[in-house]
Amino acid sequence: MLKLLNIKLTIAIDGPAGAGKSSAAKLLAQKLGYTYVDTGLMYRVIAWAAVTKAIIPDNKSIIDTLFSEFKIEFQAEGVSFKVLAQAENITHKLRTPDVSRYASLYSGLPAVRDYLLGLQRKMGQSGGVIMEGRDIGTVIFPEADCKFFLDADTKERALRRHQELKAKDNPTKLTDTIRDIQKRDAQDSRRKLAPLKKAADAIVIDSTNLTLEQVVDMMLSHIDRVT
Ligand code: DC
Repeated sequence: MLKLLNIKLTIAIDGPAGAGKSSAAKLLAQKLGYTYVDTGLMYRVIAWAAVTKAIIPDNKSIIDTLFSEFKIEFQAEGVSFKVLAQAENITHKLRTPDVSRYASLYSGLPAVRDYLLGLQRKMGQSGGVIMEGRDIGTVIFPEADCKFFLDADTKERALRRHQELKAKDNPTKLTDTIRDIQKRDAQDSRRKLAPLKKAADAIVIDSTNLTLEQVVDMMLSHIDRVT
């Protein structure tokens, strides 16, 4: 592990909703002293802003206008980052089931993907980064040093999301969460542009019966092997 500390790798984690990507990426970032980038949050902020203004973000200048009107900023917060709109921290507002649905819907638009591709490549250009999403190993950083595809049973993923929402005073019915996750899986993996899929050289980890620590240990031992 010691040899890792001086190397600034680019690590990609992809996978479906609720597979544990954010928790694993955050813990891994803490252990390695890397920056964690949650790309889903970027799709979510576009969806939130577009829904708030009741417009469809289908060209780049609309997204530019949304970002400037709301004064959207991504600010570092520990190993992670938070999203500000007009200087207010709105990160918690971006995790509701409604924003999830619109983020998935609008993430199929070419203007949205194009806009975020530039931003994400810039954020990861110096390495020392763990970026998670749906297309990091396939499109954003196809040359990443390490790629993981984190998966879990649909029911287990829905249960985790359900508990997360409950803990944040945003209770939902488990059956609704299962239906939402299935719909999002289908939408994210069937879209034409940058669909959710495993990169050919990604390591698959099924987290259904694993603890967070076990997942991160598996990642660390793989990273250690390839460096
Ligand atoms: O990871 P998340 O659940 O916060 O992502 C929300 C939506 O954003 C997801 O359903 C699809 C989209 N997304 C994407 O298309 N590509 C990414 N790299 C990350 C998220």
